[in-house]
Order: sequence, then C-alpha cells, then structure tokens
Amino acid sequence: MSSLEQTLSIIKPDAVERNLQEEIKKYFIENDFLIKDQKKIHISKNEAEEFYKVHQSKPFYGELCNYLSSGPIVVMILEKENAVLENRKLMGATDPAKAEAGTLRKKYGISIDKNSVHGSDSLDNAKIEIDFFFKS
Ligand code: CDP
Ligand code: MG
Repeated sequence: MSSLEQTLSIIKPDAVERNLQEEIKKYFIENDFLIKDQKKIHISKNEAEEFYKVHQSKPFYGELCNYLSSGPIVVMILEKENAVLENRKLMGATDPAKAEAGTLRKKYGISIDKNSVHGSDSLDNAKIEIDFFFKS
C-alpha cells in the first residue's frame, strides 16, 4: 500500500559548507520528491539539543548537537508517495562508508557524523520534525 506522505529533510552543515545544496535538491526533484517548503537557517545549540533529544543518552549526543548548530543548514518538507521510506533509501546508511552506491550519503558524506543529510525515520517523527521547523 502506498500513501502520499511528507517527511523532513535536512542538508547538514558539511554539505551546505561545500555548496552542495542545489545539487542535493536537484537529486530529490529528479527522484520525484516535491519540495513543499524550505529554508536556510542557523540553529542554536539548544535547538539542536531539542531536535535530537531522542539521542540524549548516546555518547555522540554532545558532538552531534555542536555539529548541527555549527553552521547553516537547509531544512525541507519533502512530499512523495511513501516519502519517509523513500527518503531514507535515497539517503543511504548512516555511515557513508556503508551506504549503497547512488545514495546521497555515499556521494557526499564525509564520515558517520558529517553525513550530509538527515531524514525522518517514521511518519510520526516526520510530523514532529516538520512542526519543529515549520510550525509558526
Ligand atoms: O541519521 P540517521 O537516522 O541515519 O542516524 P541516527 O542513528 O538517528 O543518528 C543521528 C545522527 O547522529 C547521524 O546522522 C550522525 O550524524 C550522528 N551519529 C554519529 O555522529 N555517530 C554515530 N555513531 C551515530 C550517529
Ligand atoms: Mg535517525
């Protein structure tokens, strides 16, 4: 079964810093995602901590929050049939070294922490994450 979904995508600081945002957006569009809304922002460490709070018990949490708030990011609402899973497929594995050929993280990721893109991991989290960045 398929259904039209929205998911949250983030082009992370390492990719924005290398001016990859237009190339990455083009890849989403070529893969039939509709970019319903987007903005370039620079979040604070507090906001990053709130966004990634599911990971607060992980050893990499502090570094992760420092990193996401270290420079501008592009946040996007992507729409497609089965967008959550389709985006996860297009992104590839968390560790770029383990990501499949043709995935964004394989193409652009530098390391497991600087892996260029974020994507919601479930429909429930997609709603929470979209609200986090786009609910006024
Ligand atoms: O982003 P994804 O859902 O694939 O992975 P996650 O397990 O939800 O982890 C969130 C983010 O934490 C990753 O995208 C990495 O940037 C970072 N991370 C890390 O720095 N070191 C790890 N061992 C695992 C994740
Ligand atoms: Mg995740």
